[in-house]
Amino acid sequence: MASSIDEPNVNRGAVQPRVFVVRRLPSSIEAKLRERYDVELNSTDETYPLGRLIDAARRFDAIVPTVVDDVPADVFAAEPLRARIVANFGVGFDRIDLAAARDRGVIVTNTPGVLTEDTADLAMMLILAAARRASEGERQLRAGQWTGWRPTHMLGTRVNGATLGIVGFGRIGAAVARRAHRGFGMRVLFVNPSAPDAVAVNDARAERCTSLDELLAASDIVSLHVPARESTRRMIDARRLESMRPGAVLVNTARGDLIDESALADALERGTLGAAGLDVFEREPAVSRRLLSLDNVVLLPHLGSATTASRVAMGERVLANLDAFFRGLSPPDRVI
Ligand code: DGY
Repeated sequence: MASSIDEPNVNRGAVQPRVFVVRRLPSSIEAKLRERYDVELNSTDETYPLGRLIDAARRFDAIVPTVVDDVPADVFAAEPLRARIVANFGVGFDRIDLAAARDRGVIVTNTPGVLTEDTADLAMMLILAAARRASEGERQLRAGQWTGWRPTHMLGTRVNGATLGIVGFGRIGAAVARRAHRGFGMRVLFVNPSAPDAVAVNDARAERCTSLDELLAASDIVSLHVPARESTRRMIDARRLESMRPGAVLVNTARGDLIDESALADALERGTLGAAGLDVFEREPAVSRRLLSLDNVVLLPHLGSATTASRVAMGERVLANLDAFFRGLSPPDRVI
């Protein structure tokens, strides 16, 4: 096949690099991988045992895992190690042992930027759904329990004009802030470990808090947008949940590890926290029975980037990273 800008034949005339793909990907991405590489795809989309990944590290030049696949030190300890790049499908790389990859000289890449807007849309959806009791209302209606409009039926929390606390003012946090301020007239507060994008701050008229505790005490609704790290693990614990405004709403589209789920269930049961909207969980795909039994939490199966547009764009980032690497260039989205 002729090579073009869209379809670079990175390996014309050479032995094609071997690429191992851990999950089923959008069909257009799988087709491009087949054209450009000697690729092993996962046609059944089954979850592979660790042994399969270790074996892949011995037999393939590249591994393409996703944000939910563990790539622990054992994979990088494979002997002889053939894999030279782990091209993650997704932004979060918390399941990849970066130290072990670095030790073995393996490059790790991710797919930033392309899923920002869709994830921000989903965060807004969870804010609205949790505050306005959308899932609870639909459950009632579908169960045939709706007895009709009445002034006191299923009253929620007003979103328009409320104060939104954004924890993590990176791309996605900033995109949520913009929606909230421009679309819903919200006052936006934020915390961020590093200097935020000044244009994004100005766009949302966002005000920086000096600490997470200050933000939690001042927000009606809190939305989490920080990566999973040792330093962010369970950052929302029992004490911090307790410090939130009575009836506040908490939304998490980032990573389940950020919240102590048992403390969250306590706060929701007691009603000190008004509602929560969760797209991610501590032990996903397992979801705690206590959360499942509560009406004041909206639960989604990690759908933040689940649009065709985002998932294809994420696949294109994976291809761009692989193509650059196998051309001897630095991949654009290098994590290490
Ligand atoms: C990511 O890329 O980290 C997201 O969680 C996928 O939706």
